[in-house]
Amino acid sequence: MPSNESIVATIMEWVQDRNGRLVNEWWSSITGASMTVAEFLATPPTSVVLYPNEILRRTCKPILLEDTVKDEIRRVVDVMFDLMYQHKGCGLAAPQVGLDISLFVVNPTGDRDRKDKEKVFINPSIFHYGPRTTSEVEGCLSLPGCTAVIDRPRKIMGKATHLDGTEEKFCYEGLMSRICQHEYNHLQGTLIIDMMSMVDAKRVRPVLDRLETIARTRSANDRASA
Ligand code: CO
Repeated sequence: MPSNESIVATIMEWVQDRNGRLVNEWWSSITGASMTVAEFLATPPTSVVLYPNEILRRTCKPILLEDTVKDEIRRVVDVMFDLMYQHKGCGLAAPQVGLDISLFVVNPTGDRDRKDKEKVFINPSIFHYGPRTTSEVEGCLSLPGCTAVIDRPRKIMGKATHLDGTEEKFCYEGLMSRICQHEYNHLQGTLIIDMMSMVDAKRVRPVLDRLETIARTRSANDRASA
């Protein structure tokens, strides 16, 4: 989730460089093959996965946090925070970096220097949603150029595992609640375009068309060069 709306326009420019070439080769392919954590660490991505990559539609697998895995996940988390700050985001979910595992990271300040605000959610579950809802404009780093008003419960309660393996319950409202719900949706393959009003859907359609065209062109080029 981007930390502010104006940033989204900037990211759109990253989709293609000045010569119209794709900046990053793999994130906008249409097939959406997920990779293993080892593959991820061998070649860490330099950008986030974009719509309509199918990995964004997958239900993520729980992480078996054995000792050997902890260190790998810690390294994945470092890459994710780094990409999140690079893209001016305040939350990022594993499918957005090509991994179909149940993990997301959040820093509501979006500030690289505010390490104290960083939170890692492994195998999270939200088990209670408050009755009152609020509407706010949201964006998504995988949907550059798309924003929509999303209605969400104000308060949530849930639990998640930390990097050290301990489990903690959480209770959030306000921005933290909204970011966590947005990222949690990613782990179930749900995007803001599934939740927006008809008016917003119509407004962002040209942007989605453009992202779809880019991905199709990319896939066609891949096939041609294979
Ligand atoms: Co998102």
